[in-house]
Amino acid sequence: MRIIELNNHVRMPALGIGTFQLSPEEAYQSVLEALKVGFRLIDTANAYLNERAVGRAIKDSGVSRGEIFISTKIWPTEYENPNAVEETLERLGVDYIDLLFLHQPVGNWKEGYRMLEKALAEGKIKAIGVSNFEGQFLMDLYKECKVKPQVIQVEAHPFFWNKEVRREAAIKDLAFMSWFPLGHGDPALLENETVKKIAEAHKKSPAQVILRWHIQCGMIVIPGSKNKEHIKEDFELFDFELNDKEMYDMAYLHKDKRYHEITADSLLKYLTTPLTYEEK
Ligand SMILES: NC(=O)c1ccc[n+]([C@@H]2O[C@H](COP(=O)([O-])OP(=O)(O)OC[C@H]3O[C@@H](n4cnc5c(N)ncnc54)[C@H](OP(=O)(O)O)[C@@H]3O)[C@@H](O)[C@H]2O)c1
Repeated sequence: MRIIELNNHVRMPALGIGTFQLSPEEAYQSVLEALKVGFRLIDTANAYLNERAVGRAIKDSGVSRGEIFISTKIWPTEYENPNAVEETLERLGVDYIDLLFLHQPVGNWKEGYRMLEKALAEGKIKAIGVSNFEGQFLMDLYKECKVKPQVIQVEAHPFFWNKEVRREAAIKDLAFMSWFPLGHGDPALLENETVKKIAEAHKKSPAQVILRWHIQCGMIVIPGSKNKEHIKEDFELFDFELNDKEMYDMAYLHKDKRYHEITADSLLKYLTTPLTYEEK
C-alpha cells in the first residue's frame, strides 16, 4: 500500500473504497469485502445515507479501528448544525473520524469550516478535507480559514485530469483525492483501446490500469464497487508499474470530459435537499 503523509503529518492510504450510491446493505457488504481483501481507507458521506452501515461493517470486520482510515463528508444543510460532527460520529459508531470533508461549496460553508476546525482542535477528527471546492471556491476558503485543509476531493480520471486543481493542490501541499476515478464505470473509458492495450501488456484489467495511473500520478483513489471480484481486483495495484511511455499514452486520453458539472443550479439544489436518515 502506498501511504500519503498529509500536511499535518497524518498518514493515509492512497487507495480506498468508495460507497457513493450504495444502499446501506450494499455498502455493508462492499466495505466488509474491501476490509477482507486489504483495503484500509473507506470513503462515505452524510449524503450517501449509508454511514451506519459502513460503521457496522467496520465493527463486524474484526479489523481494529486504529488500522482503518475513515473519510466522510458533512452535507451543506448540516453546516449550521452545531451537532453535525457528533451526529456523524454517532452514525459511524466511532469516537473519531480520520478525515472529515465539507461536501459542497455552497451555503454557510464558512460556519461549516469553523466547525471542522473546532472538531480538529478537540481531536474528534484528524484531518480536514474540502470536496468540490474548485477554482475561486478554494481561493475564498484559503482567505477564510485559520487551519489549512489537508485534502481536496474532486472529479478526476483519464478523460479529465483536473489539472487546474492538481496544480493548485501541489502549490498548497494539499493531498488530491479523485472521485469518479473509473469515470463512474463508463464503458468508453473502461473499454478504451489505449487502456486495453496497456492492460494486456501487464496482464491486468483496464480498471487496474486506470487506478494504477491515479496512484502513479500521486492521487488518492477510491473506486466504488458492489462486485466482489472487482473489489479484489481494485486492490491488486501494487505488483505492477506503468512505464513512462504508458503514462504518456494515458495522459493523451484527456478530453476535458467531466461526468458531473458543478453549476450554480446543482449547488443550489444541494442546499435545498435535506437529508432523510431512514436507516436506524
Ligand atoms: N465528493 C464527491 O462529491 C463525490 C462524488 C462522487 C463520488 N465520490 C466518491 O468517489 C467514489 C468513486 O466514485 P463512483 O463509485 O461513483 O465511481 P467510479 O469508482 O469511478 O466507478 C464505479 C463503477 O465502476 C465499476 N467498477 C469498479 N471496479 C471495477 C472493475 N475492477 N472492473 C470493472 N468495473 C469496475 C463499478 O461497477 P461494479 O459495482 O459492477 O463493480 C461502478 O459501476 C464514490 O464511491 C464516492 O466515495 C465523491
